Amino acid sequence: MQANTTLTPLLRYVIHQAMKVLYTADEITEKVAELGDRISLAYQGNEVFIVCILKGGFMFMSDLVRRINLPVKIDFARLSSYGNADSPMRDVMIVDDIHEVISGKHVLIVDDIMDTGHSLLAFKKHLEEKGPASVKICTMIDKAQRREASLSPDYYGFRITKGFVVGYGLDFAENYRALPQLYVLDAEDRRNLL
Ligand code: IMP
Ligand code: MG
Repeated sequence: MQANTTLTPLLRYVIHQAMKVLYTADEITEKVAELGDRISLAYQGNEVFIVCILKGGFMFMSDLVRRINLPVKIDFARLSSYGNADSPMRDVMIVDDIHEVISGKHVLIVDDIMDTGHSLLAFKKHLEEKGPASVKICTMIDKAQRREASLSPDYYGFRITKGFVVGYGLDFAENYRALPQLYVLDAEDRRNLL
């Protein structure tokens, strides 16, 4: 079966059915609400400056900000890792930096997943140079066992041990970002979909 950028709705549906659901839309909604409550409590009395990492963080961020009961400001940054999404290179490039001033602000980086941790460690250091009051990280998924950088998300939705995850913003070769659930692709699935 081919997965390409011209997927028809039917083909997309068929692939959707064949993939293993890791977390349902309801489970995600519940987890995001829980994270929103924790963040609202932790930042009580402050404004939260959200930096969403594109592209993967877009869906999680848009759900999360609606669950934070505090004043929120939002900016975006785009990082790049070359080659296969499976083995991102350690040289992280900031393709598009934030545009707002964050000095003195409480910054929360929101991304889809922390894997080796190299991208978010580099980006966190970069933001810290701009003089914020604090910089923390919230990811939907934490692949803690694959961590290479000395960094952990301050908040995470789900921790997984293996597999490649797609849906809810996460892609495989730019496909599946729009799926409302989280799916896991095993090595065979990925071979079939390429
Ligand atoms: P890092 O290894 O923590 O630097 O993660 C770099 C990037 O790799 C993440 O932001 C994702 O874009 C991508 N990535 C890592 N694991 C997965 C996965 O399971 N599914 C989709 N993208 C992933
Ligand atoms: Mg990403």
